[in-house]
Amino acid sequence: MELADETAAALAAAREAAGQREIGSYARHILLCTGPDCCTPEEGQRAWERLKSLAARVNRTPGAPKLYRTKVGCLRICTAGPTGVVYPDGTWYGCLTPENLERVAAEHLVGGREVTELVIGRNPLGGPPPQGATTES
Ligand code: FES
Repeated sequence: MELADETAAALAAAREAAGQREIGSYARHILLCTGPDCCTPEEGQRAWERLKSLAARVNRTPGAPKLYRTKVGCLRICTAGPTGVVYPDGTWYGCLTPENLERVAAEHLVGGREVTELVIGRNPLGGPPPQGATTES
């Protein structure tokens, strides 16, 4: 199916943005809910600020697995937050305070070992990529 010109142009711009974000180079992706139901927005924002600085530190460390971070509005747990999930491991965490994020960054995101006491669920993703998976146009 042929894409409309404006869709093709929009996708080209998005591919450029993804390239600038170095999509394709990351070993792990953490999504962090910043509330408002699993934690207050203030608690969520403090956790997010800490995660940003931790990710920057991890990504400046030679040899450390590269980390991508995303702030999300709700992961549908809505208690004992800030809530987060780390992919591709599929490890779900609760109570991701700034202090607990320090542990998760050091032990899991860099060290590759879950912080068991903070785990609230597991849903590892795997399997083959979808048929035709490519970003080539
Ligand atoms: S508000 Fe954080 S999981 Fe729903």
